[in-house]
Amino acid sequence: MPTSKGRLLLLHGPNLQLLGSREPSIYGTATLADHVQRATATAQRLGYEVDSEQSDDLATLIGIVQTAGTKYAGIVLNAAAFTHFAWSLHDALKSVGLPVVEVHLSNPAAREPWRHESVIAPVAIGTVAGFGGESYVLGIEALTRHLEKQ
Ligand code: DQA
Repeated sequence: MPTSKGRLLLLHGPNLQLLGSREPSIYGTATLADHVQRATATAQRLGYEVDSEQSDDLATLIGIVQTAGTKYAGIVLNAAAFTHFAWSLHDALKSVGLPVVEVHLSNPAAREPWRHESVIAPVAIGTVAGFGGESYVLGIEALTRHLEKQ
């Protein structure tokens, strides 16, 4: 087995454990486990290991981010609705200083006005949105390219 280039964190916010049955006309029918499996396979093909965590609880997500600096090379984050207002998550990401790729299954910019602001975007290296499960795969690819050009 080739040496791992590093470990990546896939982090998921509230209600994303409901994917598969949650508003399938917007989010599709694949489950969170399906998305994690595809993203993990992509990361492994590129030489990286992946851990995946989901929580509905903002404090839990902040705690995970606060300790991520010693474990991970970067984060692919779908903060779900926390994207639009959770400045405490923004601050935690800023403090830890890891490269973050923001991902969304849907394209929040094309949806209700309250989804148009992202408090994650200012602390992310970039955003992938609107490609369904491909957003996670593209997010992993973008993060690994960023890590390898550093
Ligand atoms: C989402 C978009 C958010 O606006 C929403 O609150 C979600 C999912 C997405 O992946 O498209 O829960 O992050």
